[in-house]
Amino acid sequence: MTKPIPKEQGLDHSLDFLREGYQFVPNRRTSFQSNIFETRLLGERAICLGGEEGAALFYDADRFVRQDAAPKRLLKTLFGETGVQTLDGPAHTHRKRMFMSLMFPENVDRLTRLVGREWEKELDQADGETVLYETAQRVLMRAVCEWAGVPFAESEVDKRTDEMRLLFESGTALGPKHILGRKARASAEAWISSMVEEVRTKRLLPNEKTALYEFAWHRDESGELLPADVVAVEVINILRPTVAVSIYVLFTVLALHQFDEARTKLANGTVDATAFVQEVRRFYPFFPVTAARVKHDFEWEGYRFEAGTLVLLDLYGTNHDPAHWDEPGQFNPERFVDWTESPFTFIPQGGRDVDFGHRCAGEHVTIAIMKETVDVFLNRYRYDVPPQDFSYSLVDLPSLPKSRLVLTDIERRA
Ligand code: HEM
Repeated sequence: MTKPIPKEQGLDHSLDFLREGYQFVPNRRTSFQSNIFETRLLGERAICLGGEEGAALFYDADRFVRQDAAPKRLLKTLFGETGVQTLDGPAHTHRKRMFMSLMFPENVDRLTRLVGREWEKELDQADGETVLYETAQRVLMRAVCEWAGVPFAESEVDKRTDEMRLLFESGTALGPKHILGRKARASAEAWISSMVEEVRTKRLLPNEKTALYEFAWHRDESGELLPADVVAVEVINILRPTVAVSIYVLFTVLALHQFDEARTKLANGTVDATAFVQEVRRFYPFFPVTAARVKHDFEWEGYRFEAGTLVLLDLYGTNHDPAHWDEPGQFNPERFVDWTESPFTFIPQGGRDVDFGHRCAGEHVTIAIMKETVDVFLNRYRYDVPPQDFSYSLVDLPSLPKSRLVLTDIERRA
């Protein structure tokens, strides 16, 4: 006997999603008292899942696929249309291996060192004052391009960094900003595609174990090189999210400023940097949901899932689920000190398995950059944080402190 999925009435709730942002799914999970409910988004039926059991179901690759799951407007800006996010089965596993071949510890350390070096250059030249969001993006763009084997002239830093920023800022934007995002994608893909040709004709010689080298020479399951535009999408899948770590940089420095007790515990060693940045990733908003489609009809816990139905997993709400987290609204890094890892309750960058599923390929990179940020802003530099608007919205995607974090009187510690 199947039972009906709790269902939200109404023709379409896309506008409610825009109005409620990160809270859209959690609000309804609370009002239905259910980790599963049905709604309508962008003119189609959608099932929303949340919590540990919802995440465990969502990451069952026998039941869900990613093909045609992400809305076109996100593919045209944020993701690109031919990237790893859209693949399933062996094609996905093979492509994912290409990404993961870069993520070994020494290589992650190399990127972290580059980030540290770029922080010092920027902060030493900051004339004592900086808007952290912009500075962090230049730091991360220079570091990740060097790491990825992507050369660019210093005169292009602002243009190329802006393109990456537009890709992740414009995904859900409407009107002119969305158009700017599409233009940024076209420009960035053309830029990297031309480099792929140069690599293949040996006019450009990036080092092995850089994204440009490995992706340009990667062969798909049938032994063919990837088309240059697909390589470009995948190299941008390294550059763009690394620049987007600037959002977590902002929240890390904001947390150091606003949560005195946590900062003291970090400084005296009660809490380590890993626990601190894990709590930043749990507490602050980044991606609200991720999407898949039902592969074939099946039944789960008495609910019927029909092939092709859109399914969303509540990332933000699961990280704040009172069933899994004590006082989820409190910023408390100590909860991560003796934390037993769970692949389904802490999912800011997706869940389950990174090698075979769609969990984020850059989670270690993200954590390493955030820990480097803690070190820079706790131990290596002193600075003032003048009064400003620190508030961030749970509606705007991506969510950012309004002031973008202004720091003054920056100086290197002895
Ligand atoms: C800014 C912090 C980051 C956040 C919040 C984040 C979040 C995510 C999320 C939610 C997913 C999708 C998970 C799913 O659909 O199941 C994802 C996938 C992905 N991320 Fe990240 N990410 C971040 C940083 C990075 C970095 C630094 C890189 C690369 C250096 C990266 C590369 C990727 C790739 C390639 C995928 C696609 C994986 C797949 O489809 O198999 N991300 N990320």
